[in-house]
Amino acid sequence: LTVDWDAGHYDTGGYEHYLLKEISEQPETVARTLRGRIDDRFHVAHLGGLNLTPHETRAFRRVKIIGCGSAYYSGQIGAQMIEELARIPADAEPASEFRYRNPVVEHDTLYVAVSQSGETYDTLAAVQELKRKGGRVLGIVNTVGSAIARECDGGIYLHAGPEVSVASTKAFTSTAVAFALLALHFGRVHDLSPADGRRICEGLRRLPDQIEEILKQGPQIADLARRYVGHSSIMFVGRVRGYPVAREGAQKLKEISYIHAEAYPASELKHGPLALIGPEMPTVAIVPDDELLDKNLTTLGEIKARGGQVLMVGHRTPDPKLAEDVIVVPKNETELDPILLTIPLQLFAYHAAVALGRDVDKPRNLAKSVTVE
Ligand code: G6P
Repeated sequence: LTVDWDAGHYDTGGYEHYLLKEISEQPETVARTLRGRIDDRFHVAHLGGLNLTPHETRAFRRVKIIGCGSAYYSGQIGAQMIEELARIPADAEPASEFRYRNPVVEHDTLYVAVSQSGETYDTLAAVQELKRKGGRVLGIVNTVGSAIARECDGGIYLHAGPEVSVASTKAFTSTAVAFALLALHFGRVHDLSPADGRRICEGLRRLPDQIEEILKQGPQIADLARRYVGHSSIMFVGRVRGYPVAREGAQKLKEISYIHAEAYPASELKHGPLALIGPEMPTVAIVPDDELLDKNLTTLGEIKARGGQVLMVGHRTPDPKLAEDVIVVPKNETELDPILLTIPLQLFAYHAAVALGRDVDKPRNLAKSVTVE
């Protein structure tokens, strides 16, 4: 399988690596994913490629999202957005697992396949299996005309432009934005009020400028990353909306810096991994200003009580006793916060990898697109 571009045709645009270029492009790539898709009259999303009538949209009782690697984690963010905004049960699963477990395919479930390249073999095979069993499948794909895009019944193109670096960054945020649009669309067909629809539309429009603000913190995040690279293992924790963010943050760090990173739901820490916490194992904690703030601050207290060092990523500086390091990101609507919380973690991983002299754009043992079994 081939795609219609290769890295040789693109330069790094003055950046040291493709990865930094792609992280830095996100104000523009998120704007491109949104362009022409927000309707301010009815506070809905225009998604011309879904090929679903309002009647069909109302008939789905469940949404199942599949994808691999970062596509799967962005799908977890998407599942939460769909549940919150449309109140349709939704979950995400690795496509590589889904395809091997003889899944029950139901007529009132909508399947959504996520893939930057549109060529990942496990995701393609899962889509083909779904289609063979009569499932209705949408694609959230970056590469126009790719195999997965062709196989799906409809979907959303990201329009994020070619992503060259092996670790996915701009495709991840654009996928989360595409899911926000899909959740808004489903929500407004169901019971999401016009006022809430408007709140989400306005939140989406704020994202590019807010990403720009986060990118300005690059030098401070680089300093932080350099202070953490001496550790051989870093824990990432987050609750509910913060959990997929933690998973993606850990994924980025392990992919490109080769530092062992593990992500856990903050609520699960006390059920096992707390045994790992101590001065030698720091924790990156995702702590948004949402209804779970107090719970998350309690978790930080539990980590501190075991001598663990904490880097908190959230919306405000907590009591200094709870975290020695903090990255503050701009607040958006609660449902959209995961998109912004991800970006400092991309920069953290990037600068950790640079500090360790890694091959940032082509990490060992990994491929941009795994087109074989
Ligand atoms: C590979 C890449 C990951 C990517 C995954 C899914 O494993 O190394 O960065 O997230 O494939 O790729 P896709 O193109 O389907 O989004």
